[in-house]
Amino acid sequence: MIETPYYLIDKAKLTRNMERIAHVREKSGANALLALKCFATWSVFDLMRDYMDGTTSSSLFEVRLGRERFGKETHAYSVAYGDNEIDEVVSHADKIIFNSISQLERFADKAAGIARGLRLNPQVSSSSFDLADPARPFSRLGEWDVAKVERVMDRINGFMIHNNCENKDFGLFDRMLGEIEERFGALIARVDWVSLGGGIHFTGDDYPVDAFSARLRAFSDRYGVQIYLEPGEASITKSTTLEVTVLDTLYNGKNLAIVDSSIEAHMLDLLIYRETAKVLPNEGPHSYMICGKSCLAGDVFGEFRFAEELKVGDRISFQDAAGYTMVKKNWFNGVKMPAIAIRELDGSVRTVREFTYADYEQSLS
Ligand SMILES: Cc1ncc(COP(=O)(O)O)c(C=O)c1O
Repeated sequence: MIETPYYLIDKAKLTRNMERIAHVREKSGANALLALKCFATWSVFDLMRDYMDGTTSSSLFEVRLGRERFGKETHAYSVAYGDNEIDEVVSHADKIIFNSISQLERFADKAAGIARGLRLNPQVSSSSFDLADPARPFSRLGEWDVAKVERVMDRINGFMIHNNCENKDFGLFDRMLGEIEERFGALIARVDWVSLGGGIHFTGDDYPVDAFSARLRAFSDRYGVQIYLEPGEASITKSTTLEVTVLDTLYNGKNLAIVDSSIEAHMLDLLIYRETAKVLPNEGPHSYMICGKSCLAGDVFGEFRFAEELKVGDRISFQDAAGYTMVKKNWFNGVKMPAIAIRELDGSVRTVREFTYADYEQSLS
């Protein structure tokens, strides 16, 4: 038994998402790039590489990781590059997408050897959560003024538009793409490639992948462009768990169980978006509030149902612990950082990384 806490990536479950992505690529002609901001655990890139075209990034370190650990096509994007990093970014990238016209003008010459693009902001999105809404008022994410973009068309040959957010609704995707075409169609017809970003949950069980693929192919035929998709969450959804052990139980009006992990340190994204963790099957007569071991009063994973009473030493699996989770783990309270383990396709499990006191100590100075 591997000592908890650890993240467990199941390659069979990952393969299921990969096969859906490969299907969409084949039917639509679109290229699929893994969004490293969501998932950057490179030990499984050997598997993902066979199904995807490369990676996209949000920083110098991500673009370098994409180039060195994934390979294939490597896109660079950042909300803003600094003078001290642009040369290295360009050295790792096949394409660079600037977030603003001023960044494009500042760095276009330095990036003259690779394809250059600009982020457009269509001012519509599928997000209902202000914090994650690229179309929020006064958003800094991309240019929206057609007349301004018109003036720099000679310096770019592509666009990136990321306006979907956890969008499971193909009809909504289709309508928003229609709005994008109305507004930017004439500009899109003048470039060679368009990335439609991430946030489309097309690997979900009921997603109409064939209608989606047909829509993408029609778009790409109409404008004569190569489409890119940048799936983050869709690539790794439901592939990974966080495995923890009960350290203590107590009763104070409710049954509580404290585990050897922390939502703030190991599943921070849930805390930021005020969501609870998931436990399966979440059935049975015994209800427990599962709490983390950090000092934060609200370090609570959620309330779940269990078939038996929980006791010290019992193990619990939190579902869906890959996206925006492993990339955000931190050393809050010095809580032991979860190891990373992989369940191979033959069922065997191997630990690929353990974190020690030295890692904690060296994360600061
Ligand atoms: C530009 C860009 N591309 C891709 C993604 C990945 O999105 P998701 O993980 O929702 O698919 C994001 C997420 O914020 C993004 O900002």
